[in-house]
Amino acid sequence: MSEPVLQVSDLEVHYGLRRKRHQALTGVSLQVGPGEAVGLIGETGSGKSTLARSVLGLVSPSQGRILIDGEDVTGYSQRQWRAFRRRGVVQYVFQDPLRSLDPDLTIQESLLEPLLLRGDSRSSALSLVQEQLARVNLDAELLPRRPAELSGGQRQRVAVARALVVEPRLIILDEPVSALDAANRVQVLQIIKQLRDSGTSLIFISHDLGSVAGVADRVAVLYQGALVEQGATATVLRQPQHAYTQLLLGSVPTLHAAPATRAERQALRSRLEEVPA
Ligand SMILES: Nc1ncnc2c1ncn2[C@@H]1O[C@H](COP(=O)(O)OP(=O)(O)OP(=O)(O)O)[C@@H](O)[C@H]1O
Ligand SMILES: [Mg+2]
Repeated sequence: MSEPVLQVSDLEVHYGLRRKRHQALTGVSLQVGPGEAVGLIGETGSGKSTLARSVLGLVSPSQGRILIDGEDVTGYSQRQWRAFRRRGVVQYVFQDPLRSLDPDLTIQESLLEPLLLRGDSRSSALSLVQEQLARVNLDAELLPRRPAELSGGQRQRVAVARALVVEPRLIILDEPVSALDAANRVQVLQIIKQLRDSGTSLIFISHDLGSVAGVADRVAVLYQGALVEQGATATVLRQPQHAYTQLLLGSVPTLHAAPATRAERQALRSRLEEVPA
């Protein structure tokens, strides 16, 4: 088997100090293979973005190991992380497209930036940007504009284009469609599916199992900072093992022939209170 693109083992992350110390991730192990699309699901505050940020060196885990494309990045200093991020091996699309994009840069500058940081010449960067725009269905007339002059859907497509333009080994999409209306959601999901079909390894973060189901080969379920279930998407959807996954499925009627009734959901919720965190 070829080497995983991402290998996270026994990861632990804390925020805050002393009495305010809060454990955001506990013993999280996750692998993403070459070309694999993994859905990471869990409710708000379960640690999804924390896991993503750890993989980019934006938070420092207190324990565990992270290998990216075989490179052990665990003990990297801030400087090493900056150099690593500049290489564009991993790209992150933030939950809020406005955070992925610098408000002061034009769309063209935003798209050129990761390429120029990587050391590409301006002319080769410009032609890669043109190609990438077409792939995410954006018109070149948007290039001179700034993020504030774009719709939410256009912004998110620019953010995706910016992440893709360096052809990363792994792209992490953090709730890429949750801030979008239905039409834009469909369009961005379509782009993500094309991405998966082109063999880019990706992690798709969402609290909505429905949008992940159509994209991910495998899903991992985070609950209170721990991965409680992982498996092939179809298997997890058909036979969820963990009470929390069952609860998630019960609350996604479109995926379930017989949606859980309120009483069933309440029963599940009380079972969940007994689930070890
Ligand atoms: N910078 C921070 N300082 C302190 N606590 C934080 C920080 N960032 C996140 N947390 C806490 O860590 C936990 C996990 O947060 P995280 O953002 O990873 O959750 P999430 O699953 O991405 O949630 P959401 O679906 O709302 O985006 C939460 O309890 C959150 O309040
Ligand atoms: Mg988040």
